[in-house]
Amino acid sequence: MKRRNKKNENKVIVIIMMILIVALVAGGYFYQQYMKKKELENRLNVTLKEDLKVQINEEYVLSSFVKEIRNGELLNSEEIVDTSKLGEQDVTLKLKNKDGIEEEYKFKIEVIDNEKPVIEAKKEISSYVGSDVDLLKDVKVTDNSKEDIKAKVIGEYDKNKAGKYELKLEAQDSSGNKEEYDFILNIVSDPNNRTFTTSKGFSGKVVNGVTYIDGVLIANKTYSLPSSYAPGLLSSIQNAFNKLKDDASASGYNLYIGSGYRSYWDQKIIYNNYVSWDGQANADTYSARPGHSEHQSGLAIDVCDRNEAACISSAFDNTVQAKWINDNCYKYGLIIRYPKNKSNITGYIYESWHLRYVGVELATKLYNNGDWITLEEYYGIDSKYS
Ligand code: DAL
Ligand code: ZN
Repeated sequence: MKRRNKKNENKVIVIIMMILIVALVAGGYFYQQYMKKKELENRLNVTLKEDLKVQINEEYVLSSFVKEIRNGELLNSEEIVDTSKLGEQDVTLKLKNKDGIEEEYKFKIEVIDNEKPVIEAKKEISSYVGSDVDLLKDVKVTDNSKEDIKAKVIGEYDKNKAGKYELKLEAQDSSGNKEEYDFILNIVSDPNNRTFTTSKGFSGKVVNGVTYIDGVLIANKTYSLPSSYAPGLLSSIQNAFNKLKDDASASGYNLYIGSGYRSYWDQKIIYNNYVSWDGQANADTYSARPGHSEHQSGLAIDVCDRNEAACISSAFDNTVQAKWINDNCYKYGLIIRYPKNKSNITGYIYESWHLRYVGVELATKLYNNGDWITLEEYYGIDSKYS
């Protein structure tokens, strides 16, 4: 009986021992787990942002990639990241944990380029018919990639044809980002070098600002001469006058040139004097504005007579010399440029003394048996200030 009790006692001890061992192992395990968790909770932890893509050559500080840091601090948060090359880029965060121990945390960012180049250019470019135009002259292309990008012109135009051409500039970077820029090329005829047809069908051309109709130089209120045009008195009119003077002397006249070639600047002084003395409206009826006088062309003269007091004035109109000149000048290729009763056409009062050289053939046509035709009527042009 005693023996049996002893056996049972031993069994109980073994069971208790086993329970104790299991409890100890389990306790150890849970303690370990608890400690691990504790340690994890206290460990330095970095969470990055989801989007780690950056634009090439843009400035980013390291802290911009960090979402959260637990149990420590970022030491190089203001450090600038190298974004000068496309593709993956290594980045290192320098950190200090709670215990003051420094650690590094490495990760990669991706440098991309999806920004278009920027085109700066004029919205409209003007050019003269026939002249070459460099459409890329004032075009500036910049790009975040810092590449040297050249724009190209898209569209067709004809430099010899006036018109408004709608063109495009195109610029593309090496990542394929493309920008387009619309502009207008306005091709116009050069007012100083152009051709035209008069209302009577004569062909006119302007060469460096000097107008010729059917080959004859025209200077009037509509058609001007450049201030730089300064040929001096031309031999054609000088020779014509010499002959006219010789023949006139046979009739007892003693003609001379009272005013011959006048430069733009001479005319400016003369005209301004008349304006201040007589007012512009009056001056415009007998004196040409600078750039509009035939005297500047070197093809006009004012004729006077040494025996006649009236010179370059309406008092000359009724003299015998004025009548002789009117009746004979065409034979020498000279015309009365501002005839009687034509001031509404020429823009000037009758000037019996102002002769213009046009050659005998045209002068004879314009003489018209004494009923003078003006150059304006003959060619079908105006003489009006614009
Ligand atoms: N008297 C003329 C119009 C001139 O000034 O040229
Ligand atoms: Zn004159």
